Amino acid sequence: MPYEAYAEILKQGNLVAFPTETVYGLGASAWSPSAIRSVFEIKGRPSDNPLIVHISSLAMLDGFTSKVSPVAKLLIRKFWPGPLTLVFGKKPEVLDAVTAGLQTVALRMPDHPVALSLIEQAGPLVAPSANKSGRPSPTRAEHVIADFGKRIPVIDGGECRIGLESTVLDVTGSKPVILRPGYITPANIEQVIGYRPLVESLDNIAKPKSPGMKYSHYAPEASVQWLNNDRQLSTENAMFLLHTMMASPASNNRIVHFRGDLERMARELYDWFRKADLDMMDYVFIESFDKVSAPNELIIALENRIDKAVGGKG
Ligand code: TXA
Ligand code: MG
Repeated sequence: MPYEAYAEILKQGNLVAFPTETVYGLGASAWSPSAIRSVFEIKGRPSDNPLIVHISSLAMLDGFTSKVSPVAKLLIRKFWPGPLTLVFGKKPEVLDAVTAGLQTVALRMPDHPVALSLIEQAGPLVAPSANKSGRPSPTRAEHVIADFGKRIPVIDGGECRIGLESTVLDVTGSKPVILRPGYITPANIEQVIGYRPLVESLDNIAKPKSPGMKYSHYAPEASVQWLNNDRQLSTENAMFLLHTMMASPASNNRIVHFRGDLERMARELYDWFRKADLDMMDYVFIESFDKVSAPNELIIALENRIDKAVGGKG
């Protein structure tokens, strides 16, 4: 199907899943209350969890906020299009269904040619990750089909380049605060604004500023655990995601060695979670990053997602 046809589906108030550089999004027109309602329904998403509006030009930003601070402008110039979502004070006309009733709206410009041309034609789109709530975010078109079957048309753009959801940064206050860590790190932001942004404490989970952070997420059916004792290393029917250790080849094991390549781990993490379930693994054991030598703040986002999977199902 040509993109015009997908854009038409969106303009008529229906949903289309599409690739971005982070993960696949479940797109719906940001101005259609009924389309947004179906996003919540089909994902099984709690109604107090707001959506990110995806735009393809700075002109589209004006429709949603008039409060772009000088710091936000610097960040936009440096990181858009890219995996940084900014939270602004919202214009009154932004739909409550998008913001879950908050006075703020989250916006991002994805760095993916398919996403940008789709938005260009269909207008601004809300796009949560295109997974059923609680499942790992989709990084391949097959993942979207695994969760939703044929109910949602999916534009197949192959594997997402980054594989973890965008960094969510609140720029409504005097100093920016990271609400969800991602590929754009505190150090990346510091380079642009001259000081380190705060990182919202994930312990402050009862009433987090980013409502999505309180839900268990990203978890496969298999039990995800940090590797912290030798006994785990000989567990059968387990997947091991490793950097330095050697696991024993017990029966039905699957051993994946990232050797400290954190970019690759970010890109493939959710795919391995889903493979663990397809292979009916009982456990996914993940080596901590203690022995990974290169200082790399991508660890903050990886640990965040893995901690949530550890706290999740299984
Ligand atoms: O990389 C991404 O951001 C992907 C791709 C598809 O763009 N989208 C994504 O959307 O991860 P979703 O809905 O799965 O996660 C959105 C996160 C949630 O944690 C939500 O609570 C937060 O953004 N959020 C949205 N609007 C917000 C707001 N006004 N204030 C604070 N947090 C907000
Ligand atoms: Mg999500």
